[in-house]
Amino acid sequence: MPAPLLQISYSLATIENAARQFWQVAHAYNILAFSGDMGAGKTTFIHALCNYLQVQDAVSSPTFALINEYHFDDNGRDRVMYHMDWYRLRNTEEAIDSGMEDCLLQKDNYSLIEWPEKAPEIIPHPHLWITIKTHGENERMMDVWLKN
Ligand SMILES: Nc1ncnc2c1ncn2[C@@H]1O[C@H](COP(=O)(O)OP(=O)(O)OP(=O)(O)O)[C@@H](O)[C@H]1O
Ligand SMILES: [Mg+2]
Repeated sequence: MPAPLLQISYSLATIENAARQFWQVAHAYNILAFSGDMGAGKTTFIHALCNYLQVQDAVSSPTFALINEYHFDDNGRDRVMYHMDWYRLRNTEEAIDSGMEDCLLQKDNYSLIEWPEKAPEIIPHPHLWITIKTHGENERMMDVWLKN
């Protein structure tokens, strides 16, 4: 098994620093798949990343809207970040019908996916596969894997 690109353990108190460390590695990849159990902290981490990147739009949970669109200033350039939650998808066809694949094919934009295991076949390579696990009561362990 190859080594992860990055491994970070963080609490809510240190999550901003974790987001900064994460972005140093992740900014080079436009598709970021966040895998982890319910309540592992996928949304919380994505929100911390959005804070770090100073996204302009109010960040809300994509529980009801399947795709949220955020904008941030990427060294003077307006950059789009899609935040998708695939939890409610039943199959790949539903993912395609609800526009997920269209987002993933926009190479200049970022796509962040919660519950990517619902339709892994439509995720183009390369992408980052991020696992988040609980680690003690208030800590989370994140591993970032490159899927070539
Ligand atoms: N170090 C930590 N990192 C992230 N969340 C933490 C941490 N410590 C405690 N928490 C708490 O764990 C919960 C994580 O919830 P969150 O909605 O982010 O999970 P999720 O993985 O997106 O779940 P779902 O699969 O339901 O979307 C929050 O209540 C958060 O406050
Ligand atoms: Mg979530």
